[in-house]
Amino acid sequence: MLRRICFAAGRSAEVGQAPDPVPGPGQLLVRAEAVGAGVGLVRLLAAAGERGERVRPGGEVVGTVVALGPDVAGFAVGDRVGGVVFEDAFADVVVADPRLVSPVPAEVDAGAALALVRGGLIALSMLRAGRFTPGESVLVTAAASGTGHLAVQLARALGAARVVAAVGSADKAGFVRECGADEVVTYAQPSWGDPVDVVLDGVGGDAMQHGVDTLAPFGRLVAFSAGGGSVDVASLLGDAKSVIGFTIGRLNRTRPELVERHRAELWDLLAAGRLHPRHTDFPLEQVTEAIELVAARANLGRVVLRTG
Ligand SMILES: NC(=O)c1ccc[n+]([C@@H]2O[C@H](COP(=O)([O-])OP(=O)(O)OC[C@H]3O[C@@H](n4cnc5c(N)ncnc54)[C@H](OP(=O)(O)O)[C@@H]3O)[C@@H](O)[C@H]2O)c1
Repeated sequence: MLRRICFAAGRSAEVGQAPDPVPGPGQLLVRAEAVGAGVGLVRLLAAAGERGERVRPGGEVVGTVVALGPDVAGFAVGDRVGGVVFEDAFADVVVADPRLVSPVPAEVDAGAALALVRGGLIALSMLRAGRFTPGESVLVTAAASGTGHLAVQLARALGAARVVAAVGSADKAGFVRECGADEVVTYAQPSWGDPVDVVLDGVGGDAMQHGVDTLAPFGRLVAFSAGGGSVDVASLLGDAKSVIGFTIGRLNRTRPELVERHRAELWDLLAAGRLHPRHTDFPLEQVTEAIELVAARANLGRVVLRTG
């Protein structure tokens, strides 16, 4: 059998064909329903373009198990799963590591599921890493992104007293307000408003210090972007502020039981109607258009490629 698979470099990508892979020991073969395209993919393709290489990148995937390699426990053919696949994710058939996927409820739309399995997991895990408690105030940067819009929704759902959304362009204000933000600021504004207890920073660079300066005494900034940045330690001392680093990869590798608890909590919040993942969908063949949307920083919510 042949699968459809995406070959990409720089800003352009095309869908070609390749033989269906055979799952090796400890691997699952998954027929994908949807794959996520985000800023990580844009960065990876830009780097590949500079090297003149075509790549077959990884990403988050939702689909159904169609075959099991030897020595796989805990999964069966027909299970619906979602999680991260490190390479060749942009295809209609993918090989998955069972440690990085988990069950997805049958009734959840593939786009919503795709938004939750990574972005939702990151957003909830960051609120926990930032020791958020109900009644506190939260500021989220990159607040309209696949991860950020769910952080806004989760802060609201988990009892934040005030949620501030920081975005690159005022055009995104209506979207982030629909997600539950009380206030919207753009990065360029000299002040991001009254102090907050928790900042979730998905932008990096100058936003890091700006976020620290917006923290109330004992406030915590969770830094999760690949955008770098630095903070003047002296600006932390007087008001006992903290900066906490976060990657979902570290959590996946070292705290699988916590990841499972967070995933279960996300499905419960979704079923209770307290989360509304937003996504823009493209067919797999329009992968270049999907990449362009993210590269232009114009996406609202998760960008999803439908492989079915
Ligand atoms: N630590 C982790 O485990 C982890 C995992 C996945 C993603 N991330 C980070 O989370 C952030 C959001 O990722 P995502 O996949 O949710 O985003 P996404 O859905 O692809 O949304 C992209 C949006 O993020 C904002 N953004 C922030 N930094 C950007 C940059 N350097 N280039 C382009 N857009 C940027 C832009 O909105 P504005 O113009 O409004 O800012 C853009 O529209 C990124 O910084 C990413 O590196 C971290």
